[in-house]
Amino acid sequence: MYYPEELIEEIRSRNDIVEVISSYVKLQKKGSTYFGLCPFHNEKTPSFSVTPSKQMYYCFGCGAGGNVITFLMEYENFTFREAVEHLAERAGIQLPKEEESAEARRQADLRSRVLEVNKEAGKYFYYQLKGRNGKRAWEYLTGRGLTEETIRRFGLGYSNMYSDDLYRYLKQKGYSDSLLKETGLVTLSEKGGRDKFWNRVMFPIMDANSRIIGFGGRVMGEGEPKYLNSPETRVFDKSRNLYGLNYARTARKPYMLICEGYMDVIAMHQAGFSNAVASLGTAFTAGHANLLRRYTDQAVLTYDSDGAGVKAALRAIPILKEAGISARVLDLKPYKDPDEFIKNLGAEAFEERIRRAENSFLFETDVLYRQYDMADPEQKTEFHNGLARMLLRFSDKLERENYMEAAAGKYGIAFDGLKALVNRLGGQIGLAAKPPAPSREDREKTAKPDGIRQSERLLLTWLIEDGDAYRAVKGILGPEDFSEGLYKQAASMVYEGLEAGNLEPAGILSHFINDEEEYREVAALFNTSLPELTKEEREKAFSETVKRIKRRSLEEKSRQVSDISALQALVKEQAELDGLHISLN
Ligand code: UTP
Ligand code: MN
Repeated sequence: MYYPEELIEEIRSRNDIVEVISSYVKLQKKGSTYFGLCPFHNEKTPSFSVTPSKQMYYCFGCGAGGNVITFLMEYENFTFREAVEHLAERAGIQLPKEEESAEARRQADLRSRVLEVNKEAGKYFYYQLKGRNGKRAWEYLTGRGLTEETIRRFGLGYSNMYSDDLYRYLKQKGYSDSLLKETGLVTLSEKGGRDKFWNRVMFPIMDANSRIIGFGGRVMGEGEPKYLNSPETRVFDKSRNLYGLNYARTARKPYMLICEGYMDVIAMHQAGFSNAVASLGTAFTAGHANLLRRYTDQAVLTYDSDGAGVKAALRAIPILKEAGISARVLDLKPYKDPDEFIKNLGAEAFEERIRRAENSFLFETDVLYRQYDMADPEQKTEFHNGLARMLLRFSDKLERENYMEAAAGKYGIAFDGLKALVNRLGGQIGLAAKPPAPSREDREKTAKPDGIRQSERLLLTWLIEDGDAYRAVKGILGPEDFSEGLYKQAASMVYEGLEAGNLEPAGILSHFINDEEEYREVAALFNTSLPELTKEEREKAFSETVKRIKRRSLEEKSRQVSDISALQALVKEQAELDGLHISLN
């Protein structure tokens, strides 16, 4: 960022967010907030809100949120700099003329320069593919059933036979060696620059906003490695991006299809399943799951039908579950992957397999089932025991019984027998491990992360929206009482603004603008929906929220202090907290 912060803040505040967003999204006023259909995910009823008083937008459906600058970054795929320049022009604000050298300017905005080079490289590969040198690559791709339109849509390309022609092309465009090195597209040595990709068909990897962040390159035919991928760079984080997401996020489907490969994604999209994504030659991570959770709460795993694919599915299921996404698993047999399946049986058969995709729990039990020989009574018993242990994962009784019923039906076991076994094992495990029923404190500890975060979000939103709230909470609870770094940081900015009487939520957001995860999270912090309550209920809810946050903070402190008098002071504070009633005004 090399425009001064005050200038950026001026530009931001002179562009009313409602006016700007209205030129992209049809908004309707409801009370003090505007609502419309979210441009970042598909929906039929509006959950996208724009709040003039905060100068922020927030989607209650997908969690997209930010200020007028991030809106343009996400909607127009602008870099931060481009968004600011666009808004400056819109508001008639003169930007200072640049005095830095070309090199200094490059350093200042390296991220967007890397993206720019990637885009340039993507175009180059595409033209190579279309040109004379790309004939074989073109035949390879069309030979695998891809249409010209698909090739264009995914921006596929060809890196040709010469070992440094991309390097020379980019140099001639004026890019410096140091920048090119940042992109991971070339390696530099005394002998000069060398292209990383060489005689391969190229798959540009795009982020959710269709910016090229890296490449995968496949050999045509046999060869090792089959796919070569860009290294991670300052714009390419493999654990937070999914191939195909730029299109999948606007597919009108309630679920996402998750698969293993580039070609699978492309084949599925071409067959009409534009809600397909893949991780980038790495395992599926919590980062991927959280990214997906912005768009959906259901996934269908379409991993390869081989052993590795089954393993990958077994690993992904709990990760998805943890992120709040329920999974089903699609059976591709007798084919290896979605690409082959669709080529052989077509889109309709694939659609049918999606409909029949199995609940992830029953997929897991099937994997177990296949390890035993049911003709052998001893092995059969072992299977039943294993199954019962898996059923114990469901802590909710009704849910557990529903799964028992399904499993009993599926494997021909008497329901009552299975239930007795589950209960007996549950008792034994309880006895063997001897954990007494968890104490209240322990339960709170494990239930904490989300509950506390939710309370903290609620409080911050409250502080922003209601002047009385700050007066009431001041002196009782401060920014240091929030549970984690980002929340503390955002809270202290909110406190400062309130204290000085010049709170600008959208301005606070600008501090987090370099990290999409962070500004989204902060936007969520400031836009929790406050329940509609009577005055009395409001006070009670507010008191409880404040007390809950404070209680956690005191508990954390008391775990850290070692001297008795400090501990006694904390205990006293805890006791006082219990009796506290906070009134709003
Ligand atoms: P697959 O070997 O299943 O590839 O690897 P695929 O997508 O089916 O490829 P085709 O159909 O043979 O062309 C699945 C994914 O694992 C990563 C790639 O992302 C690939 O799409 N991979 C695989 C690599 O990164 N490097 C490799 O050498 C192989
Ligand atoms: Mn394949």
